[in-house]
Amino acid sequence: MARRAKPAGTVTAVSALVAHADPKSPAAEAYRTLRTSIQFAGLDHKCRTVVVTSSSPGEGKSTTVANFGVVSAQAGSRVLVVDSDLRRPTLHRIFGLGNARGLSTALLEGLPFADVAQATAIPNLFVLTSGPLPPNPAELVGAMRMRECLEAATTDFDLVLLDSPPIVSVSDALALSAITDGVVLVIRVGKIPHDVVRRAVVQIESVKGRILGVLMNSVNMKREGYYYDYYRYYHAYYSPADGRRR
Ligand SMILES: Nc1ncnc2c1ncn2[C@@H]1O[C@H](COP(=O)(O)OP(=O)(O)O)[C@@H](O)[C@H]1O
Ligand SMILES: [Mg+2]
Repeated sequence: MARRAKPAGTVTAVSALVAHADPKSPAAEAYRTLRTSIQFAGLDHKCRTVVVTSSSPGEGKSTTVANFGVVSAQAGSRVLVVDSDLRRPTLHRIFGLGNARGLSTALLEGLPFADVAQATAIPNLFVLTSGPLPPNPAELVGAMRMRECLEAATTDFDLVLLDSPPIVSVSDALALSAITDGVVLVIRVGKIPHDVVRRAVVQIESVKGRILGVLMNSVNMKREGYYYDYYRYYHAYYSPADGRRR
């Protein structure tokens, strides 16, 4: 059980975990802004399970989930980060954890997420890696058992954050949007055409997903490769009244 687990994670991919490696950096501050925004967006609505998704691959979902998890744990919440990208999972690498057992194991063996989750080097932060990749990811994350396990996880954790595959390619993220309390949409600025983003928003709304916030992930291309990670920055925007209009 995660509660009893010894910290197993060695944070190896330090640059990806900027909120842990460099908590004073502008990027870490931007993740804290995202956290505050989500807290406000959830004031009149319980917000214990949040899925992070994007329209396309490579927009920064996993990086966002990992750092969002870090800043939330740093703020004192007991946080579980779940790698529900059962196609191209990366959270085990970001946190330097093994991936022999994880979400797929919990779902297939009917185990509580807390029993399979691993502690990290960061206090209060636990990670449920993907586990072995199943042949039917959409079915697995869309199953009633996923909903039940997620609900049960909220008794063990204050906040459950889910990574996901992109919306354009597969239905997994939509299934997760339908069963979580809220959705954070990551948009890589300048890379994704507006109509692709718009389509993603319509799809999330079509399954009654509640968009809590949009994270604009900007990368200063000129500086890329020459400067450290914190020159890459994030902005979190949201509308407390109706995040969907963003
Ligand atoms: N703001 C950022 N600045 C620079 N690189 C970033 C940023 N966000 C993500 N990346 C990098 O972009 C790549 C894709 O990010 P990732 O979080 O894995 O995207 P996704 O999960 O959406 O596929 C990774 O190599 C990651 O380190
Ligand atoms: Mg990813």
